[in-house]
Amino acid sequence: TGFVTLDSGYKNTGATTSAITFLDGEEGILHYRGYPIEQLAEKSSFVEVAYLLIYGELPSQAQLDDFSSQISQHSRLPEGLEKILAGFPANAHPMGILSALVSALTAFYPESVEPNQSKEQIELNITRLIAQISTIAAWVYKHGKGESLVQPKENLDYCSNFLHMMFSTPEQDYEINPVVVDALNKLLILHADHEQNCSTSTVRLVGSSHASLYSSISAGINALWGPLHGGANQEVIEMLEAIKQDGGNSQKWLEKAKDKNDPFRLMGFGHRVYKNFDPRAKIIKAACDNILNNLGVNDPTLNIAKELEQAALQDSYFVDRKLYPNVDFYSGIIYKAIGLPNEMFTVMFAIGRMPGWIAQWKELRENKEPIGRPRQIYTGQSARDYSLIENRS
Ligand code: CMC
Repeated sequence: TGFVTLDSGYKNTGATTSAITFLDGEEGILHYRGYPIEQLAEKSSFVEVAYLLIYGELPSQAQLDDFSSQISQHSRLPEGLEKILAGFPANAHPMGILSALVSALTAFYPESVEPNQSKEQIELNITRLIAQISTIAAWVYKHGKGESLVQPKENLDYCSNFLHMMFSTPEQDYEINPVVVDALNKLLILHADHEQNCSTSTVRLVGSSHASLYSSISAGINALWGPLHGGANQEVIEMLEAIKQDGGNSQKWLEKAKDKNDPFRLMGFGHRVYKNFDPRAKIIKAACDNILNNLGVNDPTLNIAKELEQAALQDSYFVDRKLYPNVDFYSGIIYKAIGLPNEMFTVMFAIGRMPGWIAQWKELRENKEPIGRPRQIYTGQSARDYSLIENRS
């Protein structure tokens, strides 16, 4: 009761305090636990960044070795999960299967949903999830292709193991390419957290009812799937391919994005918080050129993306609204260059965002935050009497 402030889309409402990620949208600054994203993307690894986000400090060598080895040891999936996967149609979108299988983990690890868990149990839930999301993702891909599932290898680092499960076949082991491993580490680091975005807020809201880690994150995966959020990376590559098919006329597509009677938006452009260059997009753009050169890939969609960006940054529609390329604009071109199909792009985002979701869920519970329960301003009918069905017109 009392006075309710309406803030549709939570544009100006802080829902929580948080010590995890700092973001300044005017200046284009992003820090994880105080460390600039540029330094982490250049020098760190995804597993190290996961530790940093979840536990608050960079690990010592011993802590990192232990964390990595725990992840490796938990990367095998319970057998029943494989049976559930087998029941999904091969052409199902991987994001739907991913969220279902993460939710299904609660059935195989019932202790993960118990109230009042020990610190050790919570840590086990966390490591298991980071480990198994990678196996689930790779197996969803294999299932879609109708290929045999590849078991994880404990002696490989996180990214190499993922590539192994994705691209090895019973006949041939995938040859690990350090350029691809580096690219993957960088992309996952750049996606690892982004404060109170739609999927993270979902994880926190669901977690605020004391729903378990796996249930809360399954909900986050569904929120991420939407085309205005993580689903944008698949939409970007499809847009670039459509422009290519259409003769490469970027200007025509830019006009379409500006047309208020056309629902089309320039995918990978604009951001709720960044009103300047998305710092992640800057890093990805540079990495993109580098990786394609190193892999000897010549992808015409990269040129279309650059042309489109150039044209948009000179167009008053985009300039006035402060619309810049976001993290999704160039990421798909890298995923494509390393051999991933379009429908796996948002799954890659989910693997990357996992440490952030976990850190935010853990922070919420440690800070004993109250259940999330937004208010509303009612705009419906005022009170009226029930009418019998025969009296209704
Ligand atoms: N193309 C054309 N016009 C746009 C675009 C775009 N990509 N983005 C925003 N606008 C226009 C919008 O029509 C509005 O114009 P007007 O003021 O004339 O009505 C103005 O810019 C402000 O847009 P908004 O929709 O009110 O802004 P928002 O903060 O609610 O939405 C957004 C942010 C990211 C959803 C939006 O920019 C968008 O739809 N972008 C395309 C999808 C995309 O790339 N999403 C990935 C976001 S980054 C990865 C992640 O963390 O999810």
